[in-house]
Amino acid sequence: MSATHTPRIFSGIQPSGGLTLGNYLGALKRFAEYQGGAAETIYCVVDLHAITVWQDPEALRAQTREAAAAFMAAGVDPVQSVLFNQSQVPAHAEMAWLFNTVARVGWMYRMTQFKDKAGKNSENASLGLLAYPALMAADILTYHATAVPVGEDQKQHLELTRDIAAKFNHDYGVDFFPMTNPLIEGVATRVMSLRDGSKKMSKSDPSDASRINLTDDADTIAQKIRKARTDADPLPGSMEGLQDRPEARNLVNIYAALSGETGDQVLARFEGQGFGAFKPALAEVAVSVLSPITAKMTELKSDPAEIDRILGDGAERAEAIARPIVERTKEIMGMIRSRR
Ligand code: AMP
Ligand code: TRP
Repeated sequence: MSATHTPRIFSGIQPSGGLTLGNYLGALKRFAEYQGGAAETIYCVVDLHAITVWQDPEALRAQTREAAAAFMAAGVDPVQSVLFNQSQVPAHAEMAWLFNTVARVGWMYRMTQFKDKAGKNSENASLGLLAYPALMAADILTYHATAVPVGEDQKQHLELTRDIAAKFNHDYGVDFFPMTNPLIEGVATRVMSLRDGSKKMSKSDPSDASRINLTDDADTIAQKIRKARTDADPLPGSMEGLQDRPEARNLVNIYAALSGETGDQVLARFEGQGFGAFKPALAEVAVSVLSPITAKMTELKSDPAEIDRILGDGAERAEAIARPIVERTKEIMGMIRSRR
């Protein structure tokens, strides 16, 4: 027998530096698209995740507000959706501790994001960086979320979330946590670096030329696209012809995601042309989509008190959903709940 759970979407983004075009196409844009559907939408700036690597406190505050502004500029409506920062809802940290006792150490060492971020000197990584996926499972399961929109890089963490839910349900003989579905959809689930088609576009890449930031102005965007690494061949008539050309494939995918077309539709127009023609066209679409978002972010950031108010309101709404689920989890695990 399986409990039916109300459809609920949850996702989060770390405020660990400026957001990129990858975050926008792989996550933010899609967050807005899920609003107003059958599922309730809950979106979170995950500040507790960000501190698994060192963050300057003043910078963290600014980045948290900037991430919240990016959500809203990309179309997330804080009335239609619940929008908040993670640390204002204690349920996340409480649930993470409970899940630390369910998850196994071996599961954590297998996570590729841990291996990437910890690097060679993993003994020196914070304990939080290792435990990070248990906190992510807590984020999701403390709302009984049924679906989580993310980019491709988060797939492994979502599988682990299901493992934690299944082990909890099994160990305590309940059918309490749902098996959350990953929503990894569209042509831009993995936007690659502009300098290296084998690496994902990331806010932590040391080269700023490797990414388009949501704060870049039109000239900077055009310049980065002009300098993006490509090859000397003309464009083929369909995506099949780009299988062994990762940089070219990436640029066509970015174009398609921005214009709302498929890669094949884009290539049908550019077949036989070189990057001398394609790059300016790409820059034009990129600027036309991103400029209004950048402008909106700047406007929102000019009123930090209003952003804080929105996050606080969202946290109260989030708390109302999360609190009963954490309490019930503790009860299932055998903890006395007698406080009035
Ligand atoms: P992060 O910046 O790591 O907190 O990621 C926030 C969200 O953006 C997650 O859903 C990621 O999967 C997504 N994301 C980050 N980088 C990319 C990228 N290069 N392409 C597609 N999605 C991405
Ligand atoms: N781990 C995600 C990332 O690095 C961010 C995140 C934290 C998240 N908690 C989440 C995403 C819950 C989806 C659901 O991108």
